[in-house]
Amino acid sequence: MRKQIVAGNWKMNNDLAQTETLITELKMQYSPQDAEIMIAPSFTNLWQSFNTLKDHAIEVIAQNMHFAESGAYTGEVSASMLKSIGIQTVILGHSERRAFFYETDELLAKKVNAALQNGLRIIFCFGEELKDRKSGNHESVVESQIKNALFHLEASAFENIVLAYEPVWAIGTGETASPEQAQDMHAFIRKTLANKYGKETSESISILYGGSVKPNNAKEIFGKPDVDGGLIGGASLNAEDFFAIVNAF
Ligand code: 13P
Repeated sequence: MRKQIVAGNWKMNNDLAQTETLITELKMQYSPQDAEIMIAPSFTNLWQSFNTLKDHAIEVIAQNMHFAESGAYTGEVSASMLKSIGIQTVILGHSERRAFFYETDELLAKKVNAALQNGLRIIFCFGEELKDRKSGNHESVVESQIKNALFHLEASAFENIVLAYEPVWAIGTGETASPEQAQDMHAFIRKTLANKYGKETSESISILYGGSVKPNNAKEIFGKPDVDGGLIGGASLNAEDFFAIVNAF
């Protein structure tokens, strides 16, 4: 059985006090779930968040990391630094990292290797832009993003990789991929994985959808057979909305 996961990507939101408040609210809203629940606060709030949720089922994860172990990379954080405070999962390849910080497939392959070497689990994000969707190239764009950053890996590496399909045109725009568009792409991703690694591996990988998932559309999206959960931006900043999404399973 594939894991069902709902992860909140807080992006560059919430200072320390706001982080503490939101975590308190999340704890109040929490009820035991089959789905794994994660939140990704900013770097400055990771340690505090991790400690607050240490014995709780909500996992605290990181939004990014550098590929190098250590060294002269001002402003960056390494996989082993994340590990040293107890973090076990990192988001890599988010479209905002690709667009605003020029992260390429080649760079992401290095980050993927570094994360896996350090025993971190990865939520690997990818997704096409509106122009790709309009020109009908969305599948080939997604296929190359996955191949370029992940297909050098052995099948066993995918035990520690979760995929997140996030069409750029649906992120923060209020425009969601329809449940059918999400399902079609997730099925395509699974087929791409099956061609390379075999059906057993492809069936075992959780594929999350991200892009304007809200309490009112989560149920339909999560109801699709190849959608194993969501990566939630805006709606994860409100405890009630976030748990309404979690409870959509
Ligand atoms: P929104 O849910 O705000 O569209 O963001 C999605 C996202 O980028 C999650 O990583």
